[in-house]
Amino acid sequence: MRRRAADFRRPVRRKYWCWVWALLGLFLVAGLLLFVVQHIQNEDRSVNPVQERRESPQREAHRVSNFTEELVSTTSLSRQLAEQMTLAKAYVVIAKEHNNLHLAWELSSRIRSCQLLLSKAAMRGDPVTFDEAEPIIKSLSSLIFKAQDAHYDVATTIITMKSHIQALEDRANAAIVQSTVFGQLAAEALPKSLHCLNVKLTVNWIRNPSLQKLAEETVYSPRLVDNNLYHFCIFSDNLLATSVVVNSTVSNADHPQQLVFHIVTNGISYGAMQAWFHRNDFKGATIEVQNIEEFTWLNASFAPIVKQLSDADAEPKMWNQKYLSLLDHLRFYIPDIYPQLEKVVFLEDDVVVQKELTPLLSLELHGNVNGAVETCLEAFHRYYRYLNFSNPLISTKFDPQACGWAFGMNVFDLIAWRKANVTSWYHYWLRQNADGTLWKLGTLPPGLLAFYGLTEPLDRRWHVLGLGYDMNIDSRLIESAAVIHFNGNMKPWLKLGVGKYKLLWERYVNTSHPFLQDCVTA
Ligand SMILES: *[C@@H]1O[C@H](CO)[C@@H](O)[C@H](O)[C@H]1NC(C)=O
Ligand SMILES: *[C@@H]1O[C@H](CO)[C@@H](O)[C@H](O)[C@H]1NC(C)=O
Ligand SMILES: *[C@@H]1O[C@H](CO)[C@@H](O)[C@H](O)[C@H]1NC(C)=O
Ligand SMILES: *[C@@H]1O[C@H](CO)[C@@H](O)[C@H](O)[C@H]1NC(C)=O
Ligand SMILES: *[C@@H]1O[C@H](CO)[C@@H](O)[C@H](O)[C@H]1NC(C)=O
Ligand SMILES: *[C@@H]1O[C@H](CO)[C@@H](O)[C@H](O)[C@H]1NC(C)=O
Repeated sequence: MRRRAADFRRPVRRKYWCWVWALLGLFLVAGLLLFVVQHIQNEDRSVNPVQERRESPQREAHRVSNFTEELVSTTSLSRQLAEQMTLAKAYVVIAKEHNNLHLAWELSSRIRSCQLLLSKAAMRGDPVTFDEAEPIIKSLSSLIFKAQDAHYDVATTIITMKSHIQALEDRANAAIVQSTVFGQLAAEALPKSLHCLNVKLTVNWIRNPSLQKLAEETVYSPRLVDNNLYHFCIFSDNLLATSVVVNSTVSNADHPQQLVFHIVTNGISYGAMQAWFHRNDFKGATIEVQNIEEFTWLNASFAPIVKQLSDADAEPKMWNQKYLSLLDHLRFYIPDIYPQLEKVVFLEDDVVVQKELTPLLSLELHGNVNGAVETCLEAFHRYYRYLNFSNPLISTKFDPQACGWAFGMNVFDLIAWRKANVTSWYHYWLRQNADGTLWKLGTLPPGLLAFYGLTEPLDRRWHVLGLGYDMNIDSRLIESAAVIHFNGNMKPWLKLGVGKYKLLWERYVNTSHPFLQDCVTA
């Protein structure tokens, strides 16, 4: 029984081993097959690009010659798309690092549509058209903006992308160079209707002794030197622009009677300004108008800028009138003009106020002189962009990476200003720059030097810049801004102003005013 049993069992065992071998064989064959298939696929993959490379030189050359052509062009949309894509990719990484997955996802999806568009354009061999590119550029810009906003704190770590952005910016500048030459001229020339208004008002001022009397009374008003009130300075020769600044400030103030405006203008606009501000109602705010030509203390022996200006008259080509106008530089003399005041808000004439501004005057400046919004986060406006760091005078005293800031809406602590001798420092730097080698033009470079280490960064919603050149500012940002600034050539009072922003300015102009009516139709 045992043997039989063993015998009986043996064939079973043999059968069993048979099966095992068969299965093993099958596996082996399957494995081999898989290996072969995969190998073939691998080979396919490694062969294909070679084939492609071999195949397409002509096509590639075709494309390359046209692509290089397009890429060299400053207005190329594909280039703009490609650059935006690079930036967006960097932000995907940053957003992921900060667990902002939704933003990362949104960015990635836009990047994909951007890539799709570029490859489609490459396939058909035509450049990207504006209609195709615009929605993508727009949505990418707004996303990039959002990313910058959300990762404000890491923005400084993106400094590695500096060169990239710089290149972008330079190209943008190059692209508008032609329009700038024209734009600058157009921005400077006062439109005819504004000039007409000036003339009408000046005549009105001269013929109207009661207006002159009103103005005289204002000169002695104790409110002008009362430090319990809120003081604003505006230095401009543009009547309508100044009117909008004052009107928008009082229109958004809870207690406009507590506001005092100190306007300084030039001799040509003086009468018109006086007439306008005394004829119209600005909700009980106190408004003083002064003529810069009556500031005898502002003379060549005291102020280097006056000397440089009179020297410049001999060489008008070297100095741009706009940048060297004395009214522009008056901002450096605020403590001299108003010796009794302690704190003021300085407003340029191309801003519109949209919110109550009085809280600005109680902001803690931490002993600093100048409260301003910084500008280095969006476009990397750092000191090296404005000043000649090849000069040891600059490079030994300043950090080239120091963050720039903007004039336009600034809070000045005049007590701290006088203590730090800011005006003397401004004089010092102007004298050092007599030959124009430290910086070329404008009030910002000497401002960056004179207020170095004395500037308190403000929340950027206080002052949103760019409405005079940037068509793609986030509308929510504009809405939330306390002050919007039309810096750039496209001023809202000009024909070439950006249409959608113009309304923000125009709503503070009384268009039914008889003088304006006469002048617009004239
Ligand atoms: C480049 O594109 C133009 C049309 O924009 C076309 O006429 C020309 O043939 C293209 N160049 C090459 C080398 O194919
Ligand atoms: C120039 O200004 C200084 C003070 O700023 C003053 O002392 C001097 O009298 C002025 N000179 C003239 C000619 O007005
Ligand atoms: C400012 O100038 C005065 C006199 O010119 C000088 O005594 C003072 O030390 C200066 N202050 C600073 C902070 O430079
Ligand atoms: C910058 O400063 C250096 C040294 O003073 C000077 O040689 C150079 O011309 C300046 N550059 C410009 C653009 O003025
Ligand atoms: C000031 O702005 C208001 C709108 O807020 C406008 O109705 C008014 O006419 C403006 N006043 C002047 C003098 O422009
Ligand atoms: C606009 O000006 C006219 C004329 O001065 C004036 O009667 C009118 O009240 C002003 N409108 C507003 C809204 O200020």
